[in-house]
Amino acid sequence: MNMTVKEVDYEQPLADASGSVCATKHAWARVPEEPSRAERAVLKDKIRRLLREKNAVMVSHYYVHPDLQDLAEGTGGLVSDSLEMARFGRDHSAQTLVVSGVRFMGETAKILSPEKRVLMPDLEATCSLDLGCPADEFSAFCDAHPDRTVVVYANTSAAVKARSDWLVTSSCALDIVKALKNKGHKILWAPDRHLGSYIQRETGADMLMWNGSCIVHNEFKALELQSLMQQHPGAKVLVHPESPAEVVALADAVGSTSGILKAAHEMDADVFIVATDNGMMHKLRTLNPGKLFLEAPTSGNSATCKSCAHCPWMAMNSLADVARVLETGANEVQVDPAIIPRARLPIDRMLAFTSALKGGHDAGSLVPNIGAA
Ligand code: 13P
Ligand code: SF4
Repeated sequence: MNMTVKEVDYEQPLADASGSVCATKHAWARVPEEPSRAERAVLKDKIRRLLREKNAVMVSHYYVHPDLQDLAEGTGGLVSDSLEMARFGRDHSAQTLVVSGVRFMGETAKILSPEKRVLMPDLEATCSLDLGCPADEFSAFCDAHPDRTVVVYANTSAAVKARSDWLVTSSCALDIVKALKNKGHKILWAPDRHLGSYIQRETGADMLMWNGSCIVHNEFKALELQSLMQQHPGAKVLVHPESPAEVVALADAVGSTSGILKAAHEMDADVFIVATDNGMMHKLRTLNPGKLFLEAPTSGNSATCKSCAHCPWMAMNSLADVARVLETGANEVQVDPAIIPRARLPIDRMLAFTSALKGGHDAGSLVPNIGAA
């Protein structure tokens, strides 16, 4: 398989994470070239057969290649956001899960189902938020603020999850932080500063932030967005809350990947400008055939890997690798069994909270009063 290796810069908060200083660090992503139409058809048939033979199910994130999204859905699996991927993997009876997404998604699946075999097309598909929040430094930050309830975003390593009290994804962060605030909790939040400050503005919670960011969403630009809005005066603007505050301020709807899909479906408009990874366009367009979806502007002229509105690590997932791992059992996700029970605690809390919310129950009652945790 031919590959392009992309160099990726990301922000690494310095020791005083509560300050605003970040160092620029370097990572890379190995992006496969698109196979021909005929090769793709052969690979898809092979994957369908292997999924049946191996009693496996596929779970894909909205940001991966459309082929991987369609295959997951067409074979009894799921394409969704990180919260629903975690829940689906836990509840499905298949003994093998193939997770197309980035490493934290595979690790979350393994933590929730340690008895299952969790395979990923490429184990080195990571996330700038995960990279920018090393467990040791994060743990020291938590130690320095023992009076705070630790809330971490799903886009983190198993070790960081094991240091937290609550896990959140972008689709439930607002509700969970609101409930914590209502019970008197002061929060230590990590790693995404934009999502954190959006939640702080919405809830008024006392939040101390880690200073990470997503290399994709951090690139959306408010000025350029305003000029695109002027060109399309009737357009509604949909924004993922990992984007900078000035971009969020221009939104008609702010939401997680599934929140954006819901808003696009429900809002009465023909044109939408979307500030999130452009992998989302596939679902947005197939579910809303009469509507036009435009990508929100990034600093695209400089043509770096960061400014293409597509996550280079999500792009590492390929049909060829899905077929290979199913055939050989390679790329099994491993999580240190010693940390699984502790890492599972905040994930279980999040899943119980969101299930209660979905079922119309009093989710807030699952949050202890401060001092009772
Ligand atoms: P969701 O939780 O909305 O799926 O987002 C995950 C992610 O990586 C966003 O960049
Ligand atoms: Fe991480 Fe951003 Fe990629 Fe999502 S889009 S996986 S937050 S780097």
